[in-house]
This record gives sequence, C-alpha cells and structure tokens, in this order.
Amino acid sequence: MASFFFPLLFFLLQLFLYPLFSQANLHQSKTFLKSTLFSQPSSTNDTIPPTLFFEVTKPINVPNTKPCSITVLQHDFGYTYGKPPVFANYAFPSNCPFQGFSKIVLEWNATCEGRQFDRIFGVWLSGVELLRSCTAEPKATGIVWSVKKDVTQYSSLLLMNKTQTFAVYMGNLVDQTYTGVYHVNVSLHFYPAVEKVNLGSGIGSKADLIIPFSKDLPLNDGLWYKIENSTDIKVKEFEIPQNVYQAVLEVYVSFHENDEFWYGNPPSEYIIANNLTTLPGNGPFREVLVTLDGELVGAIWPFTVVYTGGIIPQLWRPISAIGSFDLPTYDIEITPFLGKLLDGKSHKLSFSVTNALNVWYIDANLHLWLDCKSSKTKGKLLHHSIAPLSVSSVIDVEGLNGTFVTKATRSISSTGWIKSSYGRITTKSSQDLSYRNSMVMAKDGNLQIVNQKIHFDDRVHSKMPGFNLKPKKSLKRFVFNIYSDYINQGNGTSLTVANVSLGFNEKKFKDKVRNLQKGNGFMVVKDNLVVNGVGNTQQIYKYDGFKSCYYRNVSSSNYTILYDEIGYPCSRRAKHHLDYGP
Ligand SMILES: *[C@@H]1O[C@H](CO)[C@@H](O)[C@H](O)[C@H]1NC(C)=O
Ligand SMILES: *[C@@H]1O[C@H](CO)[C@@H](O)[C@H](O)[C@H]1NC(C)=O
Ligand SMILES: *[C@@H]1O[C@H](CO)[C@@H](O)[C@H](O)[C@H]1NC(C)=O
Ligand SMILES: *[C@@H]1O[C@H](CO)[C@@H](O)[C@H](O)[C@H]1NC(C)=O
Ligand SMILES: *[C@@H]1O[C@H](CO)[C@@H](O)[C@H](O)[C@H]1NC(C)=O
Ligand SMILES: *[C@@H]1O[C@H](CO)[C@@H](O)[C@H](O)[C@H]1NC(C)=O
Ligand SMILES: *[C@@H]1O[C@H](CO)[C@@H](O)[C@H](O)[C@H]1NC(C)=O
Ligand SMILES: *[C@@H]1O[C@H](CO)[C@@H](O)[C@H](O)[C@H]1NC(C)=O
Ligand SMILES: *[C@@H]1O[C@H](CO)[C@@H](O)[C@H](O)[C@H]1NC(C)=O
Ligand SMILES: *[C@@H]1O[C@H](CO)[C@@H](O)[C@H](O)[C@H]1NC(C)=O
Ligand SMILES: *[C@@H]1O[C@H](CO)[C@@H](O)[C@H](O)[C@H]1NC(C)=O
Repeated sequence: MASFFFPLLFFLLQLFLYPLFSQANLHQSKTFLKSTLFSQPSSTNDTIPPTLFFEVTKPINVPNTKPCSITVLQHDFGYTYGKPPVFANYAFPSNCPFQGFSKIVLEWNATCEGRQFDRIFGVWLSGVELLRSCTAEPKATGIVWSVKKDVTQYSSLLLMNKTQTFAVYMGNLVDQTYTGVYHVNVSLHFYPAVEKVNLGSGIGSKADLIIPFSKDLPLNDGLWYKIENSTDIKVKEFEIPQNVYQAVLEVYVSFHENDEFWYGNPPSEYIIANNLTTLPGNGPFREVLVTLDGELVGAIWPFTVVYTGGIIPQLWRPISAIGSFDLPTYDIEITPFLGKLLDGKSHKLSFSVTNALNVWYIDANLHLWLDCKSSKTKGKLLHHSIAPLSVSSVIDVEGLNGTFVTKATRSISSTGWIKSSYGRITTKSSQDLSYRNSMVMAKDGNLQIVNQKIHFDDRVHSKMPGFNLKPKKSLKRFVFNIYSDYINQGNGTSLTVANVSLGFNEKKFKDKVRNLQKGNGFMVVKDNLVVNGVGNTQQIYKYDGFKSCYYRNVSSSNYTILYDEIGYPCSRRAKHHLDYGP
C-alpha cells in the first residue's frame, strides 16, 4: 500500500507546491491566480511578539452569563497533507450545568511562525460541518489569530448526551522551505440563557435533527466531497423521519486550484485561440446546483472569497479577506419538497458545479424540525418551476488581448404544504439570481481587469390559515473588481501591481450588512517567492440589526494598522425597529 501510495502523493505534492506555469507571459501575468509565499528567514526572534491577524465582522451577541467552556481539540498541524483528519471524542461536558443555553460559540485559536501557504480546513462533528476556514499565512516572527463562530444552530448535536466524533482536516506540508506548523486549540463555549429556555421545539427554533451530507471518515482527506469538473456529480442517499415539518439544507462551498479564482478565468475560446495549455479557463461563471431525486431544488452563486495568500498576500496582513476565516454558507429551503420525502423511502441528494474545474470542496447539513406531538406529518408539493439558466457572452479575442462580457440569470421556485400538529402550513420558496462579469485582457495578457456583480434574492414565505409566519428573505449583492498588471523583469523576477475591491451587501429579515474592502499594492516575485512588496487595505463594515448595530472602519499598510474605528451607532431606521419589540 505504502509503496504504491507514495509516488502518487509525491506527484500531487509537486503539482500542489509548484504550479506549472507555461512559458507564455500570460500565465505569469496572472500571478493573482495562485497563492504566493514569502522569502523570509524561518528563524524566530522571541523578542518580537506575534502579529494578530483578524477578519472584520460583528462580534457575536452573547448573553451576559458566564459560559461553560471546554477545549475540544488541541493539535499541531505539521505534515498533515494526505493524512486522515485529526479526531477527538466529544461529549457534552458533564461539569456544565444543563439549564438551557441561548448561545454556543466555537472558538478556533491558532499560532504559527515561519513560512507557509494558506491552507483550507474544515471542522466537523458527527460528519456535520461546523466551520470552513482558511489559515493565515505566518511571518518569521509569528502570528496568532482567533475565529469565533456562533454554532447555536447545531444545538441538537452539541447538546446530545452521547460521545461523538469531532474531526478537523487541514492539509498542511512542512519541509525545509515551508516551515510553518499550525498550533491549534478548538474550544466550545456554552452560554446559559438568562431565563430558562427550551431550545428543542416550536417553529423558528433550532433544528431537532441534522443529517450530514459528507464523506464518512476518510483516510486521507477532509469530509468534504471534491467536485473535479462540470460533469462530476456527488450523490448521497438519505432517509428522513416521518414527522418532519420543516427542512433547510445548509451548503458549505470552497473553490481551489484551477478554480480558486474562477471569476478571473477567461473563456475557453481565448485559451484555445492562444494554444494555452495550463491556464485555467471555462470562463468566469460558476454555480453550485443541488438536486433532489434528480430535480433541481436550489442554486448557489458563491461569494468570491480570497484566501490569505491570494492576489497579493500583503493585502491580507493583518486584515484578512472577507469570508476567509469563516467561509459563507448557503441555505436552500427544502420544506416545499417534504411531501415527497415523507414516504419512508430513501432519496437522493446531489451536488454539481456548472463549468467547474478541479477542484471544489462541497458538503452540506440538512436541518430538520420534528413534530414532537405527532409521529407522522403529511405534505404535498404544489408547484415547482425552474427557469433554465440563461447565459449570454460576448467574446472578443485578439491574440492574447481580449474583452469578455458574461451575463447570467436563473430562477427557481417551489410551493408545498405540510400538515403537522402546528396546522397546515404552505411554504413558498424562491431564488432569483443575476450575474454579470466583464473581463479585459490587455498588454498581451499581462494586464487583467475583472468587474463582477452577483445579485442573489432568496425568499421563503410560510402561511397558515389565518396568518402569515415571519417571512425569510435574504437579498445579497456580491461585488468583485480587480486590476492586475504584471511586468516581467527577467531573470525569474516579476513585478505585479494590483488593486482590488470586494464586498457584499445583505438584507436579511430586518438586518442589514455592508462590508467592503479596497486594497492596492505591489509585489516582486523571484523564483516563486515574494521578495518584496507592500499591501494597503481599507475596510468598512456596517451592521444595522434588529437588536444591535456595529461599525468598523479600519485600514492597514505594510503590516501596520493605520486607523481602526469601532462603534455601535444605530441608524434612525434600525432604532425604529425597537418600536415593534423583539
Ligand atoms: C530580534 O529583534 C530585536 C528587536 O527588533 C533585535 O534587536 C534583535 O537583534 C533580534 N534578534 C535576532 C536574533 O534577530
Ligand atoms: C483565543 O485567543 C483570543 C485572542 O488571542 C483570547 O482572547 C482567548 O482567550 C483565547 N481563547 C482560549 C480558549 O484560549
Ligand atoms: C492552547 O492551549 C494550551 C493550554 O491551555 C496553551 O498552552 C496554548 O498556548 C494554546 N495555544 C493556542 C494556539 O492558543
Ligand atoms: C445521559 O445518559 C446517561 C446514560 O445513558 C444517563 O445516565 C444520564 O442521566 C444522561 N444525562 C442527561 C443529562 O440526560
Ligand atoms: C470528471 O470527474 C470525474 C470524477 O473524478 C471523472 O470520473 C470524470 O472522468 C471526469 N470527466 C471528465 C470529462 O474529465
Ligand atoms: C496554435 O497551434 C496551431 C497548431 O499547432 C498553430 O497552427 C497555431 O499557429 C497556434 N496558434 C498560436 C496563437 O500560437
Ligand atoms: C494587445 O494590446 C497591447 C496594448 O495593451 C498592444 O500593444 C498589443 O499590440 C496588442 N496585441 C495584439 C495582438 O493586438
Ligand atoms: C540574473 O541572475 C543571475 C544569478 O542570480 C545574476 O548573475 C545575473 O547578473 C542576473 N542578470 C540580470 C540581468 O539581472
Ligand atoms: C485600479 O487602478 C486603476 C489604475 O489606477 C484604476 O483605473 C481602477 O479603477 C482601479 N480599480 C480598482 C478596482 O480599484
Ligand atoms: C474611515 O476613517 C478614516 C480615517 O479616520 C476617514 O478618513 C474616513 O473618512 C473614514 N471612512 C468612513 C466611511 O467613515
Ligand atoms: C515596510 O515595512 C518594512 C519593515 O517594517 C520596512 O523595511 C519597509 O521599508 C516598509 N516598506 C514601505 C514601502 O514602507
């Protein structure tokens, strides 16, 4: 086994570490298509404190009670690539008084020093993914970072009275060049409710049961499925209990290698016209499709998460890119389809990615709400319509120069009723998506400009005879713009100058978030290592919530924070919400 495995692994590692760029300038020009590393001494200097890296986001609103905390896992991730995940036994801590918790927070703390790539990792409990994230790239003098995620929605698992398997996979490599070992602690904090609460039942509460769609304990990878191309479909059979009255699929998505910067991939026409063999293509449009028994039930047009080594790594030091430490997940309402799923038989859920190139990591959690007063619910799908994906593109290729405009729209809607002890509830779910990407290749492929916008409109309305339940509505707008100029300086040395802006706006219930990063910088790369460079980044984050508000205006340059304003001012609109009460 081992002798067969080693050469293959070695080959993969070579690909992984030394992406093969062709002789054409173009490939090199697209330096933003790979993660780069720093040429820096790997020796440590204990007199310099480690730098704190962070992603800007609002703090988790926890009750003013003392949490009961445990460390679930402590591990040093050295040479972990191609190995099984790191496992730990998890059981709800017996020393925590079980009195009902209103918040559960997962905390990932890590340190690293030396030189290392941005590594993707996942955290699972009983196969249910709790966190998808990317490591920060270290400095010779060391870094430290902390990710906190509200995991209250996984209460039914976390509070279970049995021992479960906790797993973390991070494919790291350590050798003489890549010296960074990630030292990690994963903790859970259980915040008792101020008043006794019952987390277990009632419409709108946390799910009673979560079914994972992930790989069973893999021997050499994460629990995610890997989607390698546009025809690759991952299918899993499942059954649900007979008394489900609500179902939501939560999908985890991340994109890597040839699709790490899918939004910057030129159309295949351009690749073919120029005989480019190693540049990733398939154009800049991607969507993740979810089908149930072969029928499309939801589509995801992902947010452009840039990992910590992306574009110009100095841009993300110490302010990490939006979503990089806690990748966004996407919800698909399954309730209208419950009528079909309640037949006691097994069903098939599948995932695929339109235009995919190697590789996408996808898995999902099906959150189910059970009727505690009845052993059998009943339902029926009334309506399901899918407007076919409509894509239009304008492609103008002149040698290695080119102009491409890609537009796409999609809509999916479904209506179904479900009868439970709560009554007969009709749920209508709709998704409307629109997308536009314009890309310019100039200076014979050495200059690339990309402007992309995605509008994502997700709505769920539930009605009972007599009244409407609180609608779930999420309107999102994702923006990504880049200008990247590559200058070959000969002798294996290149200069890249780039500016980038990325962000999103989201309106969900009565909450609004605006989050925008703008950065510019340059880097000099010699023999695949960054030998010089500076990144300047500004970020404005604004959260206007139903119960609280948060504002942050922060900027960094060359590793130093220039200013950092934090506030909690609610706009007039948000204050008005208080009138309606919680
Ligand atoms: C460590 O850093 C301090 C402060 O910058 C410097 O004075 C000292 O010479 C450094 N030591 C080594 C071994 O690099
Ligand atoms: C994790 O790190 C943060 C910030 O560095 C620190 O405040 C917190 O106490 C740490 N948590 C644990 C459980 O050590
Ligand atoms: C992990 O926890 C141990 C024990 O409390 C502590 O010594 C160590 O510094 C922690 N490491 C990180 C990365 O927080
Ligand atoms: C957990 O399970 C054990 C044995 O199955 C039982 O003795 C104990 O009372 C249970 N604890 C709670 C909090 O339900
Ligand atoms: C797509 O990927 C799957 C899974 O690895 C593989 O079986 C199939 O041959 C690939 N198809 C193409 C066209 O490359
Ligand atoms: C691409 O390859 C074909 C066949 O080898 C050749 O005729 C053509 O000139 C090449 N085109 C470019 C742009 O290099
Ligand atoms: C590509 O555009 C550059 C200017 O950006 C121009 O100098 C060059 O001649 C163009 N190449 C072709 C093949 O048109
Ligand atoms: C290229 O690099 C080599 C070895 O590093 C050096 O001797 C040579 O002078 C360099 N040439 C130029 C043009 O910079
Ligand atoms: C980047 O810089 C160029 C040239 O200065 C400018 O035209 C462009 O608007 C900038 N783009 C972004 C995304 O900041
Ligand atoms: C962010 O802070 C900087 C420095 O104080 C200030 O110049 C800028 O106007 C602020 N931006 C916003 C949107 O408040
Ligand atoms: C960035 O910081 C480093 C070390 O603090 C310094 O040597 C370098 O000159 C700075 N670069 C710029 C462009 O300010």
